Amino acid sequence: MILLANSEAWPGFSKSVELLKAGRHGIDAMVAGIGEVEREVKVRSVGFGGWPNMLGRMEFDAGVMDGTTRQVGAVGAVPDTLPVAALAHEVMKRLPHVMLTGEGARRFATEIGFPHDETLYEESKRVWWERLEKELSAEELARFPNIPLAPLSRTITDPERVRDTTVFLSRDSAAGLNVVTSTSGWAWKYPGRLGDSPIPGAGFYADSRFGAAACTHTGEMTMRCGTARSIVLAMRLGHSLDDAVALAIEELCELKDGFLAGVVIHALDAHGNHKVVSLNCDEQIKYWFWDESLSEPEHRVAQSFKS
Ligand code: GLY
Repeated sequence: MILLANSEAWPGFSKSVELLKAGRHGIDAMVAGIGEVEREVKVRSVGFGGWPNMLGRMEFDAGVMDGTTRQVGAVGAVPDTLPVAALAHEVMKRLPHVMLTGEGARRFATEIGFPHDETLYEESKRVWWERLEKELSAEELARFPNIPLAPLSRTITDPERVRDTTVFLSRDSAAGLNVVTSTSGWAWKYPGRLGDSPIPGAGFYADSRFGAAACTHTGEMTMRCGTARSIVLAMRLGHSLDDAVALAIEELCELKDGFLAGVVIHALDAHGNHKVVSLNCDEQIKYWFWDESLSEPEHRVAQSFKS
């Protein structure tokens, strides 16, 4: 058994390890662990601790993938819901669809008994409004939110404030490779913006025969490259884990326009190898790793690559 997750996973990583050890399916184990991350206010890129969109509303994205069946459930831009990875799992289990967004996702949550959660942390609300006050004229503030928001997407939207997401990847006791993701997305994002975390093939992908991958940071790049799927497909075509990740990095580096910033790739192969590489990130990136040879999870340093 293996559990791999990014640094933000700390509130729930051990819980997922315990559930994997108890023989639970990887998705169940990881959804339970991510639920702890989503409730932790100190994690500023996921769940309750995340930052709101331009209108001061929290909108969450999440995805789950079962690498044995290749079933996927995803939700995007969901309001008022904290266990959002759990909601994505319910989409997978209960609907003929792969993804629900916005009010439809919230309606489904209500139908299946999820409470309406208070999701905007008071401190985030204060900082959100202060930023608007700095950026907008008195006349625009008086009319807010009835002003054009698009011009603000290049000034207020702040991908630097949220450089993460949480991603969990596991190999469970049945040798199934699975992935779960959850995020509140970029701070002050345009309402309705989806990142890569709910997009299968971009922010996550798993195929138990070959491997699994998940990304954090700049979803606007991994969505353009289909990064998670590239990695798993490369392994299917016979490339090693190292070569598959190198290929995905090469594709990301080929992007020369549009919004470009850092990306972090987390990947597992079906033989039990793992790799975490940061591309063009200023800060040192760490991740969590546990396998059966370790008595405790380890917080390790990722490889760093600059183009
Ligand atoms: N990778 C998370 C996002 O772009 O929202």
